[in-house]
Amino acid sequence: MTSGISGKPPVDIPNATPEPMAGPAAPKEPTAPKSGEFRIKDIPPGSAVLVGTVAVFNVAGRVCAAQAKCTHRGGPLNEGTLDGSTVTCP
Ligand code: FES
Repeated sequence: MTSGISGKPPVDIPNATPEPMAGPAAPKEPTAPKSGEFRIKDIPPGSAVLVGTVAVFNVAGRVCAAQAKCTHRGGPLNEGTLDGSTVTCP
């Protein structure tokens, strides 16, 4: 036998919908990144993404950023090869 907190047996209330509990709001579902935004999980270590005019790199778990265009002839550095913290223009 079960009992309620008052020592009386619990009462079933048919079709009762529990009230939402007070407290911090439940976390919201993530939305897709907006223009100019990115998610860290989308940049595995050793890779890069283009965010606007910026190349964002994951260098061994650290996020680094540089202008996306190579200063030589404007090559896309986000498509370059990453060796440690050095990017080689494609
Ligand atoms: S465009 Fe020439 S080295 Fe990058």
